[in-house]
Formats: sequence, structure tokens, C-alpha cells
Amino acid sequence: MKKFLDLISEEMKNAFEASGYDRELGKVTLSNRPDLCEYQCNGAMAGAKLYKKAPIMIAGDVAEKCKDSNVFLSVEAVPPGFLNIKVKESFVTDYLTQMSNATKFGLDMPEKPNRIIVDYGGPNVAKPLHVGHLRSGVIGESIKRIARYAGHEVIGDIHLGDWGLQMGLIITELKERQPDLVYFDDDYQGEYPKEAPFTISELEEIYPTASSKSKEDAAYKERAMEATFKLQSGVRGYRALWNHIIDVSVTDLKRNYQNLNVDFDLWKGESDVHDVIPGMVEYMKKEGYAYISDGALVVDVKEETDTKEIPPCMILKSDGASLYNTTDLATIMERMREYHPDRLIYLTDKRQELYFEQVFRCARKTKLVEPETELLHIGFGTMNGKDGKPFKTREGGVMRLESLIEEINDEMYRKITDNRQVEEEEARQTAKVVALAAIKYGDLSNQASKDYIFDIDKFTSFEGDTGPYILYTIVRIKSILNKIKEQGGTIEGNVLKEACSDSEKALMLEIAGFNAMMESAYMETAPHKICAYIYELANAFNRFYHETKIVAQEDAGKKSGWVALLLLTRDILETCIDVLGFTAPERM
Ligand code: ARG
Repeated sequence: MKKFLDLISEEMKNAFEASGYDRELGKVTLSNRPDLCEYQCNGAMAGAKLYKKAPIMIAGDVAEKCKDSNVFLSVEAVPPGFLNIKVKESFVTDYLTQMSNATKFGLDMPEKPNRIIVDYGGPNVAKPLHVGHLRSGVIGESIKRIARYAGHEVIGDIHLGDWGLQMGLIITELKERQPDLVYFDDDYQGEYPKEAPFTISELEEIYPTASSKSKEDAAYKERAMEATFKLQSGVRGYRALWNHIIDVSVTDLKRNYQNLNVDFDLWKGESDVHDVIPGMVEYMKKEGYAYISDGALVVDVKEETDTKEIPPCMILKSDGASLYNTTDLATIMERMREYHPDRLIYLTDKRQELYFEQVFRCARKTKLVEPETELLHIGFGTMNGKDGKPFKTREGGVMRLESLIEEINDEMYRKITDNRQVEEEEARQTAKVVALAAIKYGDLSNQASKDYIFDIDKFTSFEGDTGPYILYTIVRIKSILNKIKEQGGTIEGNVLKEACSDSEKALMLEIAGFNAMMESAYMETAPHKICAYIYELANAFNRFYHETKIVAQEDAGKKSGWVALLLLTRDILETCIDVLGFTAPERM
């Protein structure tokens, strides 16, 4: 379906043409002065030079030609030569009616969908999720959903960190504590136990202990590196232990991500490409891309146009061990082979920007991808506390994601039960739903690349640019619709009517912008655009609501038009929050 603004521009272009001017001058934009008009066109200003004519004359000619339009209610030429535009109520109503009947409210689907892999989450096995992992999961989930809504075929992959030194560290520490475990007996031939010899909380304690020991004790680190090597070369007992670590850890991760309403199609990890690496290395050597430098195997990735130093991409360390680079490149190779994606999108902290630049260049240079394969890294900023420093616990430690979520849940519960009688169970449930909206909206409403301040008081507020405010608006609409139902009114099958007030028209104009907004949120991988849109939409709805007696309205025609408008508003808001990755409760 054509976009609303394009239809208006089309009409304005016709008027320019009919007046003898270049039709491309007729581009219309949203008004900078909503107090004066709804839309504006500055084409007459640009035309002045071209036609050696005062802009106001051109604007006057064009305005004259707009008189009999079905689109324009009024077009005013104002000095020095702007065109101030208002559109006809009937035109808006027609457009919204088409939107209501179209799939996805008239968002055009691609002729040929792209296949896209979104690599996000990226937690490391055996380490608890902390707030640093929040953004990758939340933003990645939304980007995946936006692309899917836009009609593409999208695969989300968690890309677990499950293969490096951290695994060797855990195994080493386990051996230190329980040297008699059968996994460490080289002569053991039998089956290994089904039960892991540790719980998730033990595991989460073992890793940091091992990590700090290795920093102080060189011999310990040596042992951990050796354990990593033994694991990677397939020593049975080490593999069995590793499987336990993965199982215990993944069970816990699944629970955590489920609480965040984040879900992955693939639970692959760095380890999955272990067998791909030798072939890839061989290929890179044979084709002459990779060479030995100081004992390590590297691929040069600098380009003539570089203004900063881009170091070579290291494929193998001098001891032959693979690196983070290596698994990422092998994963690209594997993904191309298995899924042949058109686009690969990665979400990590923006401190990995240079790293991904190297990896992408290397993948292109070594032809692991097609020339037209798009590789995109979205580097996000840091989540800071109110002091402007990276978010910490009150004691100054790293905050676990679970603790953060719990804290917001409790805060929401307090707000929901404040001065009100709500059943405990329902209040807890609602608090969870609203808390998730608070967290996700708080994050997503900022441009991903920027740092932001995680301000619990602000994010959990029911007023202002927050998740709870959006949910509150949706719940308000649902409650009005319920009241009308209780009165015996019908909800479905009503027809939109022409707006009878400014606030109603403003709401309708806001709705009309949906498909253009969604398209640009996809093109620019920008969830914050959806947040900005629903905030404006919620504001427009609430203005209309405060000025209009909907439930008590006696004119049945008017009322039925409003029911249709309410439904459309609710559906668009709910579609948007679903794409952002959260939901609204029935009541709150
Ligand atoms: N596990 C990595 C980390 O903690 C993030 C993984 C991101 N994805 C990737 N394909 N490199 O930094």
C-alpha cells in the first residue's frame, strides 16, 4: 500500500506540474509548525532560482491549483514562499479504512524476502548473565522481530561462548577440587555419569575463582591452557565434562532468556565450528590469503583508504590455537554453507567495532561470503547508572541480570499495589509484564549506539516516555472497549468515520504514518524509531481520550466510528510492542 505521505506528495507534485513547474519540487514533509498546519512543502523556495521568480508567486500558483483536490482541505501560500497544508478528513478516513483491511496495516512486503541471520545474546557458558548482556539480547530480539515483520526470513542465533580458555579454567578448577572424578582418569573406558558433578550455582562460583587464580598463578594458567587444548583435541573425559557444563549452563540460560521474552532459533556456539577450522585454515593458506608472521597465521586486512591503523586478522596463534576471530570466521563459512544468508547482523558492545571490521574484511577478502552478502555489526553503547558510570550494584559489584530484573519486578509490584486492592497472584503477574516493558522500552528507546542511563525511577514511571506509559494507554483502550461491550455495544465490524475534532484527526494522522515508520525502522535497523512512534501515538490517543466522552456518547454513528478507531489504535500499539519484544496485560 502506498505510504500516506507519498500520496500527499503525489498530489502536490501534480499541482506543481499543472502550474508549469518541475513536479519533483512537490515533495511534502511533516509540518515543523504543527500549530499552523499538518504538512508542508518547501518546493517553491527551491524553485525560485530555477524559474527566476519570487517563491511566493510560485507558491501562489501552486496553491491555486490545489483548490479542487480530494486530498487537500487547505493549501496556503505564506511568505516567503512556504506551502502550509491540511488534508481532508475524508482522505484520512479512506486511508485508515484501507489500512484496517490490509495485511500488516498496509506495510509492503518484499518481492523476494531476504534471508537474515541475527547473531545476538552471545553469553559465555558458565558465567552468569550480567547487565552487560541485557542490551545484546533486548536489541537483537527486536531487530529480529522487526525484520520478520517486514517480511524477511530471519534466523536468530545465540552464538554461545563455549570453547575458549574459560572452559579449560573450569575443568582445571574442578580437577583441583575433585581429582578423583572419573573424567580425569585416562584409563577409564566405561560410560560417564548422566548427572553433572556440579550445580549451576557451583559452576557460577567455580569460574570466577578459576579466573582469578589464573591471573596470579602462572602454573595454574598453564594447566588451564593445557586443559583447553585437551578438550579441543577431543580427550573423552574432558568432552564429557564439557557436555555437563554446557547442559547445566544452557538450561539456566534458557530460563533467563525466557524471562526476558528473548528466544533463539539456534543455540549454536563457538564449539560448533571446531571441525570447520582446519579446512578453512587450509583454504586460506592455499589461496595465498594467509601467511605466517612472527609465528602466527594472519590475513592482512588494511586498505589504502584507511585513515586509522587496521591490524591484520589473526587466524591461528603461534602455538596453533584458534582465537575468537577464528571461530567467528569459521562460523561465517558454516552459515554461508548451511543457510546462504543475504545478511548477517551482529550485536555486541561497540568496543568490538574494530574487531568486527577486521573479521568482515577478512571474510570478504578470503571470499567466505558473496560480494553482495551484507555484513553488519551493530555496536551498542554502555548501560550506565545514575552516576554516569557503568551500571553496578549498590556495593559496586557487577550486577547479575536476574537481580536487576527482580529489583524492577518488586518496584513495579509496589506501584501496582499502592493504594489498591489487587489479588497477590495477579499483581505479581502484572508486575512482571510491566517490569519487562519498563526495562526493554528504557533500553530500546535510545539509539543503540549511544550510552544510556538506566534510571529505575524514570523507567518504571507510568508517565512520560516509558514502557509502562505505553502499556497504560493500551490497557486504557481495552478497558473502554470492555465498557462498551458491557453496555451491549459491538466491537468488531464498525466502520471508521470522519474525524469530528482536532484531537481525533491528529490521532488518525499519527496512525496513518505506521507503514512508513515500520519500513524505516527495518531499513535502518532502528527499534528506537518504533518507540518514538508509539510514544507519539499514545500521546495523540490520550489527548483524544481526555477531550472526548466515548462511552457516554449517544450518537450511535459517532460512537461506532470511535470503536473502530480505538481498535485500530490498540492493534497498532500492540503490534509495535510485540515487535519490540514485550506485551501488555489486560488490566493494570
Ligand atoms: N561471547 C562474546 C562476548 O562475550 C559475544 C559473541 C558475539 N557474537 C559473535 N559472533 N562474536 O564478547
